[in-house]
Amino acid sequence: MLRIAVAKGRLLDSFLILLAKAGYDCDSVFQASRKLIVDIGQADLRFILAKPADVPTYVEYGAADLGVVGKDILVESDRNVAELLDLKYGLCRLVVAVPKDSGICRVQELDFNSRVTSKYPRIAEEYFNSLGIQVEIIPLAGSIELGPMVGLSEAIVDITETGRTLAENGLVIIDTIMESTARLVANGISLKTQREAIAALAGVLEEVV
Ligand code: PRP
Repeated sequence: MLRIAVAKGRLLDSFLILLAKAGYDCDSVFQASRKLIVDIGQADLRFILAKPADVPTYVEYGAADLGVVGKDILVESDRNVAELLDLKYGLCRLVVAVPKDSGICRVQELDFNSRVTSKYPRIAEEYFNSLGIQVEIIPLAGSIELGPMVGLSEAIVDITETGRTLAENGLVIIDTIMESTARLVANGISLKTQREAIAALAGVLEEVV
């Protein structure tokens, strides 16, 4: 049985649609369930429902053979996992944004030691370092857009999909750091011990992507 770590929510829904197209009908099993481990006997799959940021951890330590996770989270986690496939859904952008009324149009216009709130402190730090811009990164766990609104930060680094959250909270994008889509990742040892099962699943997924 292959163990797949995936976060509940948008990525799981899209992954289930992809699996259905590949001939694995798993959707019904998830309905109205609050279980954290869901077995799909006929497909020989076990779903481990984790928090998005924890998916690479389960996979690196071999608690899951495979994981489905956004590229943004994968890069931020810096975990030792093998990236097998770009699943090409869940497209979003990791951006730098500031309050519209700040008048700032470029990151170079941020004041020295500006505070930047983010759920992606590692990526944000590397990004500003690469530009030689001195900022203070303040890690937050969510609702990042609040930072500038309550005087905690002058800018944010966060993902945006539709742009609605930024717009409705008076923020504008001043740079894009990276684009992200969902990725299928694997544990290095599972790649050897479960080689055929992983290759079969990755193969059918690649066909329907
Ligand atoms: C993400 C992100 C933004 C929002 C962007 O938050 O952090 O807040 O989605 O989406 P939009 O561009 O379509 O409006 P998420 O829902 O993951 O929750 P969080 O704020 O707790 O991180």
